[in-house]
Amino acid sequence: MYSAKVMDHFEHPRNVGEIEDASGVGTVGNAKCGDIMRIYLDIDENQIIKDVKFKTFGCGAAVATSSMATEMVKGKTVQEAMEVTNKAVMEALDGLPPVKVHCSLLAEEAIHAALWDYAQKNGITIEGLQKPKSDIHEGEEDEAEEY
Ligand code: FES
Repeated sequence: MYSAKVMDHFEHPRNVGEIEDASGVGTVGNAKCGDIMRIYLDIDENQIIKDVKFKTFGCGAAVATSSMATEMVKGKTVQEAMEVTNKAVMEALDGLPPVKVHCSLLAEEAIHAALWDYAQKNGITIEGLQKPKSDIHEGEEDEAEEY
């Protein structure tokens, strides 16, 4: 049911953890299952993503897609990171079962929320980036079930 790449990233997820004083942090909840994902970005003065970490309270497909997504945005500029869509991540993982496609959205949304946080803090515009719908702020996790 799952590709070898999905299993690999699920069993050995890359970039798990947090970044202290991150340039941008995004937390999102999945409307379908209530799972939660948080992404931390460390971005330098040239708008290059130097480091990225994630934490998730989610299913295996969410773990695998987040792991792959973090690998794909690392080293990219914030604008290039916009090209790391859930579709691109799924392709890189050799696909996901149809019932798990929504899980891959969590990583994309969390990256966008973290980029939004960074853009807001630094007064910059990232083309194509929209205000996250379901950003959950520190201390509001209890409300996550509503998303
Ligand atoms: Fe919740 Fe996959 S079932 S993210």
